[in-house]
Amino acid sequence: MHARVQIQPLIDEIVRFAEDTFPRSIRIQSKLSPELFPVNGNATQLHQVLLNFCVNARDVMPQGGCLRIEAGNIILEEADLRKSRQVPGPYVLLTVSDTGHGMPEQVLAKIFEPFVTTKEIGKGTGLGLSTVLGIVKTRGGFVEVSSPVGEGSLFRVFLPAAEATVGPAQRK
Ligand SMILES: Nc1ncnc2c1ncn2[C@@H]1O[C@H](COP(=O)(O)OP(=O)(O)OP(=O)(O)O)[C@@H](O)[C@H]1O
Ligand SMILES: [Mg+2]
Repeated sequence: MHARVQIQPLIDEIVRFAEDTFPRSIRIQSKLSPELFPVNGNATQLHQVLLNFCVNARDVMPQGGCLRIEAGNIILEEADLRKSRQVPGPYVLLTVSDTGHGMPEQVLAKIFEPFVTTKEIGKGTGLGLSTVLGIVKTRGGFVEVSSPVGEGSLFRVFLPAAEATVGPAQRK
């Protein structure tokens, strides 16, 4: 059985971490809908996912900017899905955005591949986003990115809601 994980405390923790350790010039905003669905997963892994996004955002805003984390519930219908392996149903949509420099097409095309980094030697291994994608996919989720050059980046992570536990009384 999968563990059911609450996203809200994880985000609260990451926000506190970012407020404590990121440069003051980076504004941090978070907006969480109340009563987020629990998701299938592992808190440590989801923490790693969030941390990766936030550190990447920090690194593209050396002059400061805004890091924004949002989470809300969403029901995806068949018509909303773009890839065959995506399944309709309830998800938590996690959005992490920054006001950094965005990415040129050729970088964007490869960011989820292992060892792809534009950071200086010693600053990044390029494993962050490939790990993120691995974790999200294992839970049946998916990631979308939009990152126009000069306009910052926006990552959307769709995590399937944990199935409601059906008690014996409700079973037919
Ligand atoms: N928010 C972002 N804005 C602009 N470019 C980004 C952003 N996030 C990731 N990238 C690009 O994607 C590359 C790969 O990111 P990834 O997190 O996989 O590795 P890394 O951050 O370079 O290294 P590591 O995560 O291992 O420390 C980055 O080097 C950067 O070029
Ligand atoms: Mg990274």
